[in-house]
Amino acid sequence: MADNQKNHIVLVGFMGTGKSTVSQQLAKRLDCESVDVDCEIESREGQSIAEIFAGRGEEAFRQTETAVLVDVLGSRERKVVATGGGAVLDPRNCDMMLNHALVVALTADAHQIISRVSHDSSRPLLQGDLKLRVNRLLEDRKHAYDFADLTIDTTRLNVHEVVDAIIACLK
Ligand code: S3P
Repeated sequence: MADNQKNHIVLVGFMGTGKSTVSQQLAKRLDCESVDVDCEIESREGQSIAEIFAGRGEEAFRQTETAVLVDVLGSRERKVVATGGGAVLDPRNCDMMLNHALVVALTADAHQIISRVSHDSSRPLLQGDLKLRVNRLLEDRKHAYDFADLTIDTTRLNVHEVVDAIIACLK
């Protein structure tokens, strides 16, 4: 990987914490490109996330996720990167993010997360009883986002307020 500076901004956090929306708005404000790792995986593989999980399994998905992160974080131009909620499960990904980016963790309470993800039934890890799945995964990942440089609770904030909070920390 070429550049070893914290040039980029990476958003991490559980599903439904607003990473993709915030990433797009933040990139607009900073006049740089926004990259959504999940979208990048889908376009590389020519398959949806659900199809990749169903056809080749989570492990194959995670490998592509890491490969995309390596490429994006190696870019010289500043990027705002929205990661998938599980991109932090491999500690090597966390180290790589910390080395190359300001890492911002977005959080939200379980109620808010359930309400936000209930509009999209495509997430493979949330099939079945949504409330149960979210609560279990939240428990499993209780400390998974603690490594971030900065944490913002988005429960009661709109996207512009979250973007303002991140920009204030860049100054
Ligand atoms: C995942 C989160 C999803 C997507 C995949 C796995 C996870 O991204 O990467 O379904 O393990 O938390 P979002 O956080 O954007 O929903």
